[in-house]
Amino acid sequence: MPANSLEQVRNLCMRRGFVFPGSAVYGGVASFWDYGPLGVELLNNIKKAWWQDTIYTRNDMEGLDAAVLMSRKVWQHSGHEATFGDVLIENRKNNRRHRLDHLLLDQDPKLLGELLERSAPTWDPSDPQIDNLAQFCGSWLRHHDGQDSKVGFSYGLESIQRIAQLIKKGNSPVTAANFVFLLTNLAVRKQLAVGVLNEVGIIDPTTGEVGDWLQPRRFMGMFVTHAGPVQADPGTEEELASRVYLRPETAQGIFMNFAHVQRAMARKVPFGVAQIGKAFRNEITPGNFIFRTREFEQMEIEFFIKPPQFVKEGEKNDQQWHEEWVEQRFKWWLRYATSPSATLEERDATASRFRARAQTPDELAHYAKATTDIEYLFPGSLGWGEIEGVANRTDFDLSAHSKDVPEEDLKRLKLEPNHDSTEKLDYFDPDAKARYIPWVIEPSAGATRAMLTFLCEAYHDEVVTEPTKQQIDQIKSDAAMIRKNAEKKIKEAQKEIAAGREAKHDPATVEAFLNLLDETVSRLPESLTEVLTALDHEGAQNLEPVKKFRPPTEKLVEDCTRTVLRLHPALAPVKLAVFPLKKNKPELVELAQAIKERFQRHFRVVYDDSAGIGRLYRRQDEIGTPFCITVDFESLEDGTVTVRERDSMEQERVKIDDLPAYLLPRLQGE
Ligand code: GAP
Repeated sequence: MPANSLEQVRNLCMRRGFVFPGSAVYGGVASFWDYGPLGVELLNNIKKAWWQDTIYTRNDMEGLDAAVLMSRKVWQHSGHEATFGDVLIENRKNNRRHRLDHLLLDQDPKLLGELLERSAPTWDPSDPQIDNLAQFCGSWLRHHDGQDSKVGFSYGLESIQRIAQLIKKGNSPVTAANFVFLLTNLAVRKQLAVGVLNEVGIIDPTTGEVGDWLQPRRFMGMFVTHAGPVQADPGTEEELASRVYLRPETAQGIFMNFAHVQRAMARKVPFGVAQIGKAFRNEITPGNFIFRTREFEQMEIEFFIKPPQFVKEGEKNDQQWHEEWVEQRFKWWLRYATSPSATLEERDATASRFRARAQTPDELAHYAKATTDIEYLFPGSLGWGEIEGVANRTDFDLSAHSKDVPEEDLKRLKLEPNHDSTEKLDYFDPDAKARYIPWVIEPSAGATRAMLTFLCEAYHDEVVTEPTKQQIDQIKSDAAMIRKNAEKKIKEAQKEIAAGREAKHDPATVEAFLNLLDETVSRLPESLTEVLTALDHEGAQNLEPVKKFRPPTEKLVEDCTRTVLRLHPALAPVKLAVFPLKKNKPELVELAQAIKERFQRHFRVVYDDSAGIGRLYRRQDEIGTPFCITVDFESLEDGTVTVRERDSMEQERVKIDDLPAYLLPRLQGE
């Protein structure tokens, strides 16, 4: 079983030097993380695997490393300055801000129906977004009412209102969630009156009461900084003239360099440019450890293809290229999420935690014709989460950054003419004997999110020696004692609170701890390590029996279980650990160190003699080291060492001279 909570992975990461909270000396700063000695190795290995598979093993790719800071004009013409960021709404009663789309999704759907019904008559039916929605509603009604298509599509605003009424009655063919994106957009364009939001009584989920809502506003998702010294008020001409943004995606750096790369490397379309680099987003709701952070790394490909009208018979069109990239990228994720030692059953189980999901039209970014998200089923409440988006960005971006784009193309792409650009980012196709602006397929993955994905999938707590019945019964009786004591503390705390005094314990937190403890104890022995993790719960603090219970539980966990990261060897931070059987035998130490030196130029190898062999194995298992080598007295006589494999824990005698041939293919996952 992979990790069943993000907490397990987070604990391991902090304990073993993968990830540390940023600026911890000053109490930390939310959602910024530092990657420790093992984290940086893992992250580098993920990026190396991606770079090799994306560039070296293909004939149609080049690499790039563009500047993080680019002209503000890049972000104006890409559409980010106007649209990138979340729409927030504030409740005047408690000054709390909420993401409007999340707030609306939290409401009773009937209330959304009401909102839709009251707002629809005020909308402009010629607005393309409204028109799209009306057609969408019309076509749904056609199915629902069994009417012919002409009638269905001619409904206009009435079709939205009719759907709104069905939502209110609870028998709509489409869910209210389908309208949230549009409502959010309209709100920021001031076309969804704040008065209506207040009339229908939108509930604040933090209080459970109707809020007093202020006009929703879009908050800038990009971090602003300045090139050169500036001492001007935000928004003034002087400030805007020196303003630059920390890039929220690496993609725009590739678009800026499309023509440079094409000319310098004499590339013919189709070809792609790949880039790995930091991206920054002022996320309103960062969280879930390193899943959503404000500073993260992306691995992006912009793959330039022929526009549909130039595709010849036998060549792939944009849709086919899109499908091919989804397939390629999906395979990549599965390849590195699976340990080569996995059984067929385990491989199937891993595959079932990945899926490719086509975005619905209302989810699509402003530039995308179609996007397929590759998602992973993260443990706990996070659930399915996007790890990569593969988008068909058409010719939107290169056109947006080009001068002299024909009128009809600007209209098709809903773009304004670009009078700032000095270039037309087009390409002369020698086969078609024509110039065109290429289309783009963009597979865009998060490197730091990939790290979390691979860690969650690789994490395993395993029982290696079954605890005895007596040991299990002891845990159960200790847990019962903890419950008895904690229930007493809960009652005392409740009394204190009722009397208006400060309580030593928070009853709800202690109750949550007890539930967690009961749940983990009920799954013994397989949940042995989880019982120990449960003792770290906030609600367990200051409970005396917990303090007594911890040391024997720790000992039992150490004796009976191991935590192992079944990472693909290509990703493992440390590839090899070498131990002498005895640290006080100089000849064993010397040979072990010589073996380390032999490999250390090729990959990360560690030497360790700080504990007994059993404990050293456990330490390496926990960080995913695929192979451990023990040098013993036999090694001195016959030149062989014991090689122990992480997943099976099997041991083999291998000649020292044969180690490269033994290890190298296995480390590549062959
Ligand atoms: N150029 C397209 C683009 O940036 P995106 O879906 O916004 O698309 C691509 O981001 C990937 O970047 C996501 O699939 C995710 O893996 C990663 N990502 C996005 N925002 C992130 C954040 N706040 N923290 C960590 N990773 C993030």
